[in-house]
Amino acid sequence: MQPNQEKFISLVKEKNKGKNLKYSILTMGCQLNENDSEKIAGMLDEMGYIEIDNYKEADLVIFNTCCVRENAEERLFGKIGEIKKIKESKNVILAIGGCMMQEKNMVNKIKKSYPFVNLIFGTHTMQNLPENIYKAIIKQEKVRDILDIDGEIFEGLPIKRNNEYKASVTIMYGCNNFCTYCIVPYVRGRERSREPEKILEEIKGLAKEGYKEITLLGQNVNSYKGNEKIKNFADLLNEVCKIDGIERVNFISPHPKDFTDDVIEAIANNEKISRIIHLPLQSGNTKVLKEMNRKYTKEQYLSLVDKMKERIPNLVLSTDIIVGFPGETEEEFEDTLDVVKKVNFEQVFMFIYSIREGTVAAEREDQIPEEIKHKRFDKLKELYESRVDENNEKYLNTVQKLLIEGKSKNNENMLEGRTTTNKVVIFNSNEKNKIGDIVSVKITEAHRWYLKGEIV
Ligand code: SAH
Ligand code: SF4
Ligand code: F3S
Repeated sequence: MQPNQEKFISLVKEKNKGKNLKYSILTMGCQLNENDSEKIAGMLDEMGYIEIDNYKEADLVIFNTCCVRENAEERLFGKIGEIKKIKESKNVILAIGGCMMQEKNMVNKIKKSYPFVNLIFGTHTMQNLPENIYKAIIKQEKVRDILDIDGEIFEGLPIKRNNEYKASVTIMYGCNNFCTYCIVPYVRGRERSREPEKILEEIKGLAKEGYKEITLLGQNVNSYKGNEKIKNFADLLNEVCKIDGIERVNFISPHPKDFTDDVIEAIANNEKISRIIHLPLQSGNTKVLKEMNRKYTKEQYLSLVDKMKERIPNLVLSTDIIVGFPGETEEEFEDTLDVVKKVNFEQVFMFIYSIREGTVAAEREDQIPEEIKHKRFDKLKELYESRVDENNEKYLNTVQKLLIEGKSKNNENMLEGRTTTNKVVIFNSNEKNKIGDIVSVKITEAHRWYLKGEIV
């Protein structure tokens, strides 16, 4: 925390004393966005605000926005409208931050059409929140705090985590890849890696507090750059796995082009690392991949998968796929289906291509009609879902190590945990088992969205 921000924290705290003011954060984006919300919550707690879930009842509402796809905008405007109504009868402070606020046209639109928004902040100025809230509530100013250039990395922001045994740790900010469909590099700036020692210190602290599972976050985690001692992502993974108390390590997202052998070795050698790896494919066609600027071919992707599966037994993969990229022909789309069949992904996150102003692909004139995009989406979904049961049945009669997450949502008497491949398993609890423990469970039933098992 910056010393000058500490001052504003105390000033706001003093001003709010005895008022029992409540805040609510609506997180609209990815895990990095969620991690930012945890930091925002950490600062607001220090300022004396109390967190509540229902943003309609809060005195301070924060929208943490995302702009990776178009529908996010409509959703945000709808929410702003809801707060406008509440503002008519009650003094509510509305602050909007996150990736969408790094887009100039969006900020202009809010200034023009929604002038009652009290505070707008970008992703590079989040750490100034105490000062900005001070200005908004005490000086009643309209605050617009956005930086175009890449922000520095601010260490030591207070953080309020939304889970007691699983934690996310951002290891790098920004993205240098400029995939031609993607807005992220424009709103998050260039890649900046945190110092490895700071990351390890944070994770050691989490282990002491009882956290068992860590997810390392970044837009392209395997291009992480460390220092002389901990040079790259593979080194970092090895160091994180040495930390006592941490039982599981995930990371999201790696880029296939940077999936070097040392990272594969690090995974193979460390059982703590999850056996589900997210490996974004985007398209299975080499020409489309080239136009997306992904820097790998269909064949290179498939041979990387083969190499990983050979070296890491029991590995399963998840992926992101975009259908309907400009110019994509039916034949090219078939290549995507072909890769999905060959790799047999255990989870597929499917997206319909969405035009993002300012990106290279948005300029293309050969945009695919909505109807075709939707047809392709449905076809991909059908293929993926047709494999789900088969993939689940593979688990029958195997013994899986589960990290217990809590009571089953559908059955009070059962506990729920996840395998190292992120499958939900429910099982009969026994007095001794607690949240955060690792237990061995034999899988007895496979259902579509969960497995059932017995402790062994
Ligand atoms: N850096 C990560 C995640 C980026 S955003 C990665 O490269 O994997 C998450 C996903 O959103 C992407 O993987 C991509 O599949 C999807 N996405 C990004 N831009 C998109 C767009 N314009 N239209 C549709 N989907 C998009
Ligand atoms: Fe976007 Fe590509 Fe960067 Fe991922 S790697 S954030 S898809 S530009
Ligand atoms: Fe994440 Fe959306 Fe920003 S996906 S990085 S919150 S644009």
